[in-house]
Amino acid sequence: MAILGIDIGGSGVKGAPVDTATGELLAERFRVPTPQPSDVTSVVEAVAEVAAQFEGSYDRVGITFPGVVVDGVTRTAANVDKSWLDAPAARLFSDRLGKPVSVLNDADAAGVAEVAFGAGRDQAGLIMMLTFGTGIGSALFLDGTLIPNTEFGHLELNGHDAESKAADRAREIEELSWEKWAGRVRDYLAHVEMLLSPRLFIIGGGVSKKADRWLPLIDIRTPMVPATLLNNAGIIGAARIAEIDGQAGDRGVTPHEAGEKVTH
Ligand code: BGC
Repeated sequence: MAILGIDIGGSGVKGAPVDTATGELLAERFRVPTPQPSDVTSVVEAVAEVAAQFEGSYDRVGITFPGVVVDGVTRTAANVDKSWLDAPAARLFSDRLGKPVSVLNDADAAGVAEVAFGAGRDQAGLIMMLTFGTGIGSALFLDGTLIPNTEFGHLELNGHDAESKAADRAREIEELSWEKWAGRVRDYLAHVEMLLSPRLFIIGGGVSKKADRWLPLIDIRTPMVPATLLNNAGIIGAARIAEIDGQAGDRGVTPHEAGEKVTH
C-alpha cells in the first residue's frame, strides 16, 4: 500500500500518497492553509484534514516539520508557534491519524527526495541541499545517507542569523533586487563551502523556480543545481523516510536517524 507524505510549510499543509519506488505522487496533492497561530493542536487538525482526503489509500505516514526533530520530538520552532518546543509530534500525529507516523525536518525531507529521485541522484560524496524560503533549511548527505537535523541556516553571517538576511523571506520583506539578494546568498554559500567543502549544492525552496534570475550571479567553486522536484520534494521525502522507518521497524533495527541510505 502507498505511503502518505505530508509537508507542513509556512503557508500551507500539503499531502499526497506517494509511490516510494519511483517518487511519483499517486494522486493530486491536497492543501489547506497553515493555521495561524501554528500551534500544535491546530496543525495536528490541519494534517488530519489533509489525511482524510486520502483515507483508505495508505497505511503509514511521513510528515515534515520546519525545525529539528529527534526521535519524533520537535526540538526547535524558529518559524512556527513555540508550543512545538519539545512536543511529542510523532505520537500526537499517530494518535490522531491511527497509523504509524515518521516526522522529520522539512529540509531533510526535501533533500531525501532530491537525493533519491531528483537533482542529487547517483551523486557520491558529500551533498548539501539548502532550501531558501521562510527560513534557510539544510540537509547533508554522505554517499546517499542523511546526516539528520543540520541547522546551517542559522550560521552567523556578518553578525546576523544567516536566514534573517539571506532567506527568500528577507528578499521579500526588504524588497531586495535579485542582484542584492544574490550577493548575500553568495556570501552565505561561500561560508558554508569553506566549512564543509561539499561536492554539490542543491538549491530548493520557491526561489529554485526562478533560478535563472539569480543562480548565474553566484560565483563559488562548488557546483550548484536547482532542485528538480520543487513543491513536491517534502511530500516525497517524508514518504520515503516513513518507508525506511517501517522496514527498519519490521526488522527490529534502528530507523532513519541512525543512518540508512535513502537511495534504493
Ligand atoms: C529551521 C529549520 C528549517 C528551516 C526551513 C529554519 O528556521 O530552523 O529547521 O529546516 O527553517 O524551514
